[in-house]
Amino acid sequence: MVRKPKTITIRRPWDMHFHARDGEAMAAVINHTASVYAGGIVMPNLSPPVTTVVMAESYMTRLMACLPADTKFIPMMTLYLTAKTTPEDVYAAAKSAFIYAYKYYPKGQTTGSGDGASSLFQCLPAIAAMQDVGMPLLVHGETVHPGMLIFNKERHFYGMNGELARIIAAHLELKVSCEHMTSVEAVDFVKNHGANIVGTITPQHPDITINDVLEGGIKPHNYCLPIAKEEADRQALFDAMTSGDSKFFLGTDSAPHGKLDKESACGCAGCYTAPHSLMLYATMFEKANALDRLAGFASEYGPKFYGLPVSDETITLVKKDYSVPDSYEFKPGNPVIPFRFGKTIPWSIAA
Ligand code: NCD
Ligand code: ZN
Repeated sequence: MVRKPKTITIRRPWDMHFHARDGEAMAAVINHTASVYAGGIVMPNLSPPVTTVVMAESYMTRLMACLPADTKFIPMMTLYLTAKTTPEDVYAAAKSAFIYAYKYYPKGQTTGSGDGASSLFQCLPAIAAMQDVGMPLLVHGETVHPGMLIFNKERHFYGMNGELARIIAAHLELKVSCEHMTSVEAVDFVKNHGANIVGTITPQHPDITINDVLEGGIKPHNYCLPIAKEEADRQALFDAMTSGDSKFFLGTDSAPHGKLDKESACGCAGCYTAPHSLMLYATMFEKANALDRLAGFASEYGPKFYGLPVSDETITLVKKDYSVPDSYEFKPGNPVIPFRFGKTIPWSIAA
């Protein structure tokens, strides 16, 4: 009988999609990411959004001020794409040493997307410049169309007649990361294109379906966007994640909101997973009998896409129960409730 490993050591992973927030909220949570991950892609959906190199530099400085002076965490800053972004903006971003990508938010589709464009076609000059300089375009892949069912927005965006297929057909060298994929269509899109098209996978989307959000009462802490979909979608994400294909890599989309803002008549979208995300991923890789592929997904394929070396540090996971706390401090009188709060995960991070 083959003995299952009780520990696994990998190079320090990278979180290629997370929301650091700002101010006291950032100070409360940033170390959950920085104590696990070597670095990560910092989303720009602040209010106002991070649209210029100067704003990104200031945000990075505020972020680093929340971490210990000797931290090795690498914040990979991004800029927020709008219909007004010019090629000159993109060239300035490419010249900076700390901006790694532009992020497309479809207007009105998620937290902090009010300044986004309604379609990638409104951003063509900037997209052409991104292709020129090799700046990756990160997409929140949902179609903006009044009345389109929420379940169909991602399927349509990545579908045959969707906008991304047409954009890529006209920009064959463009580097694109399909962020927080939630559907068979997104997974197939990435698989069916070249090495310049990749996708990130959160810990919740290969784990839950819409039933975990709505069945037996609304579960606001399982609610994020794009919304969790059907069993076939969950399975496609699980299989892509554990397949060893280097086009798929880790991006938690950890998105903290205060309890009062989620448990509300109009609750915010976002699951908070930063502290235990790596344990959640390890649990799923073990379930797939693919623990040997965790390192690629978590620590290698992401930095490869962004042209960074793998971390020279390591992190060890142990097969030992971890109890997810009921809450963490976040804003005064308004803590954040993590995804899977109060539950037990069979993997922990070694002390
Ligand atoms: C994110 C947030 O709260 O900033 N929410 C979410 O549900 N994922 C925004 C985003 O990435 O869509
Ligand atoms: Zn996000």
